[in-house]
Amino acid sequence: MSASPGGDGEMKASDAQRGREHADPDEGVRPLPWFLVMFLGAMAMWGAFYIYITPSGEESAYGDQRTVATLRPPEAMAGAAAKVDGKQLFGSKCAACHQATGLGVPGVFPPLAGSEWVVGDEKVLTHILLRGVNEELVVKGTAYRGAMPAWKAMSDDELAAVMSYIRGEWGNQAAPIKADTVKAQREATKARTEPYNGGQELKSGT
Ligand code: HEC
Repeated sequence: MSASPGGDGEMKASDAQRGREHADPDEGVRPLPWFLVMFLGAMAMWGAFYIYITPSGEESAYGDQRTVATLRPPEAMAGAAAKVDGKQLFGSKCAACHQATGLGVPGVFPPLAGSEWVVGDEKVLTHILLRGVNEELVVKGTAYRGAMPAWKAMSDDELAAVMSYIRGEWGNQAAPIKADTVKAQREATKARTEPYNGGQELKSGT
């Protein structure tokens, strides 16, 4: 029987060729060198440690507490020290809740315009600003149950300026508050770490 083209003979030849070929190369699992693993582990630990020991700075709860006055270079402050702008402070710190109109948001944020707390006892107003208020607070006959943040990070001058501003704006007519008053009340209430529990506790004094 003669070998037909493309028949047995050729198949045998290609089998033999295949037999001689090296196996296809494949990637072996080459472990990372131990010192590299140790090095990476050490770097990760150092990173965690570094984050842990790095001080994070100011209390961040209410965002960047710096005002234009703080950012101004000291030379410029010399003449302008007494001129902390209460209106500007109000716009940046308070208006988000109490609104630029001082009318607040019905049922959520109480009004400052015509509020008995704003034009009332300067000490009580200072306490509200310094320590904050939670629980029920009645303003102009309406009860609010919100959370007024504490503004203890603001300086005496700044608090005096913003309080004086709200006491003389929107038809309010109460005397301005001095930085000394803020300083004295900050001292008097320094033991307090929690906000006041509503209007009753505010009226009680400390
Ligand atoms: C996150 C919203 C918020 C911001 C910001 C805020 N307040 Fe208030 N404030 C409240 C809430 C809520 C109450 C009522 C608290 C309660 O119900 O116990 C309140 C109450 C008050 C009161 C007493 C009640 C009244 O209406 O007279 C005064 C005064 C006051 N805030 C002034 C300020 C001033 C000044 C600033 C800026 C330095 C300010 N607040 C920033 C939410 C806010």
